[in-house]
Amino acid sequence: MLENVEALRREIEAEEIGSEAAAEEFRVKYLGRKQGQITDLFKQISNVALEDRKAFGQEVNALKTLAEERLEAAEAALRAPAQQERPAIDLTLPGRGAATAGSVHPITQTLEEITRIFERFGFSVAEGPEIEDDWHNFTALNFPPDHPARDMQDTFFIEPPKEDGLRGIVLRTHTSPVQIRVMQQTEPPIRVIAPGRVYRNEAISYKSFCLFHQVEGLYVDEGVTFADLKQVLHLFAQAFFGEEVRMRFRPSFFPFTEPSAEVDIWWHNPDHPDGGQWLEILGCGMVDPHVLEAVDIDPERYTGYAFGMGVERPALLRYGIDDIRVFYENDVRFLEQF
Ligand code: DAH
Repeated sequence: MLENVEALRREIEAEEIGSEAAAEEFRVKYLGRKQGQITDLFKQISNVALEDRKAFGQEVNALKTLAEERLEAAEAALRAPAQQERPAIDLTLPGRGAATAGSVHPITQTLEEITRIFERFGFSVAEGPEIEDDWHNFTALNFPPDHPARDMQDTFFIEPPKEDGLRGIVLRTHTSPVQIRVMQQTEPPIRVIAPGRVYRNEAISYKSFCLFHQVEGLYVDEGVTFADLKQVLHLFAQAFFGEEVRMRFRPSFFPFTEPSAEVDIWWHNPDHPDGGQWLEILGCGMVDPHVLEAVDIDPERYTGYAFGMGVERPALLRYGIDDIRVFYENDVRFLEQF
């Protein structure tokens, strides 16, 4: 019995259905209700030994499906003759537009430019992990255990802090922990910058996002002073914003620097009533002796300065963009412009 099925399958596969008449013939011959050969096979099922019936039934069903599919395909091909008559592809026609070339993201461009300026001043580039432990992100930087920055409101915790509030795993909230890692690994003199991504649990708006970029700077040696810090930042601002840049230092506070300052630059803006405004671009200060102690550097012998600047703000200013979110949406229409 099964041989019959097999023979019929080969026959069906070999059939050529080149016209509507042939299709009709095929249907009657194999699937016809009265004399169709597959229909016949179904009728013979009662002659098959009981234990073979199931296998036989499956085979015949598969055969029926095959015949139906062949018929359908043939009919579809017959219905669409126009397609077959179409001329071959015209190779002389112009193409459909070249593949678009990528461009460097404006944040990356800004980061690279800041990095190049500091490299010219003799800084080397350091990197640290974006997933950081509480000790590097806060404790070693002299944040007291109850400092508000450790709060869940600002910090993304990967592992929540233990009871003592100190040991947790976080997405780094600033690039300052790279200072700690570099000082743990190297003896002064140290002169590095650390560009990278940082994360904060902030409400997303046109001016803040849950991730952004910073460039950290650190110089530790014998006899480093606040005057050195002012000089390097002034040279940086001239290189980045232009020779004529106006900048000012304002006293401020950070746990890891003493004294601390924030630096503003004057941004000309003819639409503004004052003709422009002071915009904060970075925080800085002299490395707090507690921080040096945390990494076993003798604060009696060494002093250092540190600074940390955001990258998004200068990029917004430079490119005249007024919404920070466009940096992260990866909209090609935006990115193509750079
Ligand atoms: N880490 C600070 C922040 O994210 C910025 C900063 C301020 C970095 C002062 C420094 C510094 O190195 O000295 O707001």
